[in-house]
Amino acid sequence: MKKYPETRLRRLRAHDFIRRLVSEAHLSVDDLIWPVFVKEGKSERESVPSMPGVERLSVDVLLTEAKAAHGLGIPAIALFPVVGTEHKSENAEEAYRDDGLVQRAVSELKNNIPEIGVITDIALDPYTSHGQDGIMRDGDIVNDETIAVLEKQAVSHACAGADVVAPSDMMDGRIGRIRAALDAASYTQTAILAYSAKYASSFYGPFRDAVGSAAALGSADKRTYQMNPANGAEALDELAMDIDEGADMVMVKPGLPYIDIVARACQLFNTPVFSYHVSGEYAMLKAAGAQGWIDERQCVLESLLAFKRAGARAILTYYAVEVAAWLNE
Ligand code: PBG
Repeated sequence: MKKYPETRLRRLRAHDFIRRLVSEAHLSVDDLIWPVFVKEGKSERESVPSMPGVERLSVDVLLTEAKAAHGLGIPAIALFPVVGTEHKSENAEEAYRDDGLVQRAVSELKNNIPEIGVITDIALDPYTSHGQDGIMRDGDIVNDETIAVLEKQAVSHACAGADVVAPSDMMDGRIGRIRAALDAASYTQTAILAYSAKYASSFYGPFRDAVGSAAALGSADKRTYQMNPANGAEALDELAMDIDEGADMVMVKPGLPYIDIVARACQLFNTPVFSYHVSGEYAMLKAAGAQGWIDERQCVLESLLAFKRAGARAILTYYAVEVAAWLNE
């Protein structure tokens, strides 16, 4: 047992050199995944009011920005489409159209910047007229019928060149079926990052503004498929089942409010655990920083370091580009 006065823990905090040497966690650009919003058009940049500094980009601008992100050392980007209402429908057919927005964005990225990893979201919310992640029948989000559409969506993304598909829909059993669908179409090298423990969170608010699903969703929520924020043990079941079904990487989402889940998952599983520092977390830091109430940069770096300390292998964050620039200074 360590005890005072023989042990003085402050000895290891006394100087910068020793603090650096005994540091358990480190944050580097290798940890960052940059989520980006992509829209139709040419030379378009549209700011998102609830996410200062974040813009919806047309594919040509996305290429420029992705090149810059790659130049800063960011390993991968995650694409989220902003889909016009004319392309939304009951059954989300747009989700798997070969020349849909995401599919075009992926192939442009892979043709022009082949080194950057491209991750796509597998879920139907950008494409459904009601804004839910799945197919709705009599007010219910029907599980197995939704998976059939997700399979087509995943295959179309893989066909466009996506390196990683990331199902964020929370249907039961989708990982196994998406893996089988990819393999059947010969996309055996396309990896799956499963949003395994995705909570029904109010921290997604600014994201829903950004992609325009908030209007479609109205006052409805996603509590029949996204997890109850009260539950931790259940998250471990979600993670274990997705790993068994073939997930290459698993995710916990949102980030800091669920950091306990990240820590427990990292103790239990060998599969890499990622976490998503979501839009509401970004918005809070931006807002308080803009008011001068916190030191934004230090608070952001401290938040991301907390993910690493908990054991997260990588972090999706809208701060990716800013943080990469800070770390490169
Ligand atoms: C939807 C999806 C959401 C996010 C990523 N994919 C929102 C939702 O489930 O309603 C949220 C990300 C964020 O808030 O930054 N499939």
